[in-house]
Amino acid sequence: MTRLYLPPSLTNFEEKHMVFSTWVDHMAFGYDLVAAIRPRMLVELGTHKGLSFFAFCQSMKEHGIDGVCYGVDTFEGDAHTDKYDETVFNAVQSHARQNYHGIAYLMRMFFNEALGHFSDGTVDLLHIDGLHTYEAVSEDFRNWYPKLRPGGIVLFHDVMARMNDFGAWRFWEETAPQHESFTFLHGFGLGVLRKPGGDRSADPELLHLLFDDPSPEAAARLRAFYVHACRALENARKVRRLEAQAQARAAAQAANAAKAPGGA
Ligand SMILES: C[S@@+](CC[C@H](N)C(=O)[O-])C[C@H]1O[C@@H](n2cnc3c(N)ncnc32)[C@H](O)[C@@H]1O
Repeated sequence: MTRLYLPPSLTNFEEKHMVFSTWVDHMAFGYDLVAAIRPRMLVELGTHKGLSFFAFCQSMKEHGIDGVCYGVDTFEGDAHTDKYDETVFNAVQSHARQNYHGIAYLMRMFFNEALGHFSDGTVDLLHIDGLHTYEAVSEDFRNWYPKLRPGGIVLFHDVMARMNDFGAWRFWEETAPQHESFTFLHGFGLGVLRKPGGDRSADPELLHLLFDDPSPEAAARLRAFYVHACRALENARKVRRLEAQAQARAAAQAANAAKAPGGA
């Protein structure tokens, strides 16, 4: 009998930090991956307004994981995001302080400057989401791969984005076949790669689904699952928005009625 896959994004996840980002398509997966592998150390290269970062942090907190998340970014922007101003860093810092004390740490610096703060073989989950040229993604992977522990996981965003000088797709096409890997095709694409080694005996179900069944049918099922998970979160957001609008309208009507002659 096929087992049902029922990850926490299906039942428990209502995102606490929503900003515009193409990472929105992978929030459910990011939340589930953290719940599954329970990282003691997570490093994100490229945090910007914090959509992916806070999905990871939220999962850490809601699953009682004894670990920390580092978000590395100049918080100034790059050639693909364009330059942005201090309001971005201030908002991210304030959300981190209010919600993820002891979990979220922001490292406001270049990725290469942050390298020296991490020992080799210590990072459980690395998210590479900085500048998306072929050269930049290759450099980030080359520099940070030694920091991963054996069996550690790397995520690459934008592996399906082929506009302008985006080159994460080309890097991923070359790199994925040389590793245990899985590719989500929806949105701008998300690559998942596992470093060899580590203890596989207690692998969580999600890692089995990602890496242990190489059949196209199994991959298609997992991809479809996370397309639906992303749509379900989008629909839940719409419902909450409509409910809030309806409540605001009802409150305004009640206030007007109270002001009208003969009103309460
Ligand atoms: C695509 S955005 C990150 C998106 C984010 N993960 C999200 O969920 O929306 C890329 C970020 O990487 C930062 N960045 C790019 N190259 C960098 C580098 N070499 N050092 C530090 N920050 C960098 C930029 O400032 C920008 O905020």
